[in-house]
Amino acid sequence: MKGIYVWGTGCGASELIEKGLSPEKIDGFVDCRPRGSEFLGRPVFLPEALPAGDCGLLIVTVRQSEDVARECGRLGIPEDRILYAKNPCRLEHRSKICPEAAALLGQPLVSRLLPRQRILTEPDFLGTLPEEALGGDFVRLGTLELLCRRLEGIPGAAAELGVYRGGFARWINFLLPRRRLYLFDSFSGFLPGECPSRAFQEAHANTSLELVRKVLPHPEQAVFLPGYFPESLKGLEDRFCLVSLDVDFEESTLAGLRWFWPRLNPGGYLLLHDWGNPSLPGVGQALEAFQRERGEQIPGVPLPDLQGTLVLCKPFQGSSESMVFGGMPDGLPHPRLPISSELP
Ligand SMILES: C[S@@+](CC[C@H](N)C(=O)[O-])C[C@H]1O[C@@H](n2cnc3c(N)ncnc32)[C@H](O)[C@@H]1O
Repeated sequence: MKGIYVWGTGCGASELIEKGLSPEKIDGFVDCRPRGSEFLGRPVFLPEALPAGDCGLLIVTVRQSEDVARECGRLGIPEDRILYAKNPCRLEHRSKICPEAAALLGQPLVSRLLPRQRILTEPDFLGTLPEEALGGDFVRLGTLELLCRRLEGIPGAAAELGVYRGGFARWINFLLPRRRLYLFDSFSGFLPGECPSRAFQEAHANTSLELVRKVLPHPEQAVFLPGYFPESLKGLEDRFCLVSLDVDFEESTLAGLRWFWPRLNPGGYLLLHDWGNPSLPGVGQALEAFQRERGEQIPGVPLPDLQGTLVLCKPFQGSSESMVFGGMPDGLPHPRLPISSELP
């Protein structure tokens, strides 16, 4: 019978033991930087010294699961012999098809060893797309996917002010296929006088409403409002669950905050793109001006994405704006979110 090996000799490995895998069952450990030749009385191998042919099951207990997967491929260890017990990220589905684990350890122990975190917090779809499809910004799009999942039960349309060529709008449209999506853009660049650079202005004139319509997966949900905001509103009234505000400069950003924030339903999100971008300080200045006007700080979560988005979430309680033009009762209950006992 082939052996059971454990990748890692740190906390992850000790967790395995605590969860019921007795050290006697383990034939050896693998570690890139071993602290000794033995761990818990079993031999410790460098990856290249692992007797891969004898490996019936390899339990990975380190966080760098993608690196380990690559290394295992190089060593010739078949994917279906590997169980990712720690931080599987995008690999948890691979662990589910590891038949050797149940045969060697028994299903109850395998169920205990499988990680329970991450499944709710890993973007399913966007996490699997290649870098170029994400415009190189996995954090921005991955966050969008996670936020959209939390919008179930929150009424309202989606909107983007500052659409350009639809690079972000198409993902909003993809992730919220049943929501109306308002798209605001001049489709000819920035407000006259707002953009100091002619090159930046001309670069952003390189778009059109038709071009954006073509990149949307559900164009029937899109309502285009071409022209300069806020004039382009033309008397529009609606309420929102998600707003992407991405107009780069202070005056337009402030106009967007003034109009959208009171119309964002409790539990909804406003994504303030470029808030942390040192090249576009007007965005952060607009938020400060808006907060001064309102006499309150709006709590936000900064993202480590490429342009420094700040995520503002409309609170459920104590929101004086929740009745701007009717429709939403005060004290709306918090939406039901998945709980850990619902995990497989
Ligand atoms: C950075 S781009 C938006 C990029 C887009 N959100 C994305 O992630 O792919 C900014 C856009 O905002 C538009 N814009 C800026 N100020 C505006 C205003 N006051 N009214 C309408 N459009 C505006 C510009 O024309 C430009 O297309």
